[in-house]
Amino acid sequence: MRKIIIDTDTASDDAAALMMAAFCPDIELLGVTVLAGNVSLEQAGNNALMTLEVCGNDTDVYLGAKQPLFHKREETISVHGKDGMGDKDLIHPVKKAAKKRAVDFILDMAQKYPGELEIIATGPVTNIALAILQDRETMSHVKRIWSMGTPGFGPGNATPVSEFNVFIDAEAYALMLGSEIPVSIAGFDLCVGDIEIDKYELSYLKQVSKAGKFLHDATSVLLEFNQKTRGQHMVDLPDAVAMATAIWPEVVTGRCAVHCECCNVQGPAYGQVIFYKKGSTYESMPALKEYKDEVITSVDKEIFTKKFMSMFEENADKPAKKEAKTKKK
Ligand code: BDR
Ligand code: CA
Repeated sequence: MRKIIIDTDTASDDAAALMMAAFCPDIELLGVTVLAGNVSLEQAGNNALMTLEVCGNDTDVYLGAKQPLFHKREETISVHGKDGMGDKDLIHPVKKAAKKRAVDFILDMAQKYPGELEIIATGPVTNIALAILQDRETMSHVKRIWSMGTPGFGPGNATPVSEFNVFIDAEAYALMLGSEIPVSIAGFDLCVGDIEIDKYELSYLKQVSKAGKFLHDATSVLLEFNQKTRGQHMVDLPDAVAMATAIWPEVVTGRCAVHCECCNVQGPAYGQVIFYKKGSTYESMPALKEYKDEVITSVDKEIFTKKFMSMFEENADKPAKKEAKTKKK
């Protein structure tokens, strides 16, 4: 069974991604590590705990970075609401975060499962960078990092050249890309357009299950934001698409090997990630030796939407089953 950690700055699309992992029978979810990004660390932790709870999943949540590596965290106006989850008073988790810190948990798992551990990062990668800084040798045995980050081959959403997760902590992203760990990138370009979930699909989910209703409510501010700014009644769920590339391999229809460089110099290019594709520069240019990373270039939208929607139907009874089990004890 694949050994997985999810590293998240939990807002509504992170929650969608967490649900996919929580319901996935093909992976062992070892733990969820959290950091500040979309919202504060504490809020992100509670959002992750609550999301797992509505899925009937009791995976432990570990708190990590409150700040990017070198900058003070600026309060960003979240497109997901002040609490990151639609401001609908949804967040009242029963369980508390674990005592162990996120970075220690990541390092423990990397040590326990050398060559096996995969990390799916749906936020800035400060926790991962801190783990690399603390023990590079142990982290070099991580099998792969799956990252929702970068604009892919399209425009950015934080600046014209930078995507939110990289922009929040480009130094951390540069450190991750410069490590030995292979990284699979789902860029922002892959995650928008036809693959978005529309308001009718969300209304359907609301009727299907507790988790479906939770996601419907959690994405309500995002839906309003998209209606106002783009005139479209859709929600983009970049983290859910990134999660699909990692745990639903049949969704991926295109990928290309790359060498990546992330600009972390303050200025207009801060957070830009440059992809060097094999054979894409003149032969006379100095050759790069290593293309250890990959960019996912296409996904099957129909398979994604079908799997995403049916997951709520198939797991509709999960929280109830868990409650019954707890009562029996
Ligand atoms: C990324 O930024 C956040 O708003 C989302 O959760 C996603 O991880 C998209 O740029
Ligand atoms: Ca996120």
